[in-house]
Amino acid sequence: MTESNELPEAPPVAREIFTGVALEQARVFAELLAGPGVVRGLLGPREVPRIWDRHLLNCAVVAEAVPPDASLVDIGSGAGLPGVVLAIVRPDVTVTLLEPLLRRTVFLSECVEALKLDNVEVLRGRAEELAGKRVFDVATARAVAPLDRLLSWSMPLLHEGGELLAMKGERAQEELDAARPLLEAFGVRHVELITVGHGKVEPPATLVRVVAGRSPRIDTRRSSRAEARRSSRTDTRRRRKR
Ligand SMILES: C[S@@+](CC[C@H](N)C(=O)[O-])C[C@H]1O[C@@H](n2cnc3c(N)ncnc32)[C@H](O)[C@@H]1O
Repeated sequence: MTESNELPEAPPVAREIFTGVALEQARVFAELLAGPGVVRGLLGPREVPRIWDRHLLNCAVVAEAVPPDASLVDIGSGAGLPGVVLAIVRPDVTVTLLEPLLRRTVFLSECVEALKLDNVEVLRGRAEELAGKRVFDVATARAVAPLDRLLSWSMPLLHEGGELLAMKGERAQEELDAARPLLEAFGVRHVELITVGHGKVEPPATLVRVVAGRSPRIDTRRSSRAEARRSSRTDTRRRRKR
């Protein structure tokens, strides 16, 4: 039996989540992901049948945790997930899509234009390079890096009281436990696991929510370098195991 790689119709719950002009914007974004997004290798063809539930809806429900009128940076936005979706459902929020790879930023700019999103900025670069230059109320990230690396990248980008909302799956608790020493070092104010999208997506999406404290006690550049060394050691170990 062959599986169809066609883009399905928007499911009924999409009408609840994307209201008014947002529904049409979400449809256009789904088509861009399924068309040029797949052709340019930004999304696997097998993801096309799951674009609505696994990608658009799962990202849209993150909006439940985003405070009103926030400035938000989506770290490692890739093809625009969750950043573009959040900009669609939350026109009150100003979204910066941060992505280092040129072909991805080109795609993101095309999406912003096609969807006529006036609350989005596309920024080419790495999170660690933005430290000391910009600050935001919220940082989001999906499938970008383990939590400890995300902390090193995001805490310097947040105002005191700002929030990292890291979309994590079933390994959320494990990653949180591994990141405890760094959480302490950054003097974070609060950390919790939350679920969003109850009754809308199945299962509800799990987020690690970290509220930034006052200025960190550690040198973030050194911490990023130490984290990079740790992850390169882990990668080397993984390669040796293979
Ligand atoms: C696996 S993709 C995930 C993309 C998207 N968030 C999603 O869920 O589909 C990871 C993305 O993170 C970006 N990335 C990697 N290192 C980064 C860094 N230091 N700062 C910002 N983005 C980074 C990559 O270029 C890539 O687009």
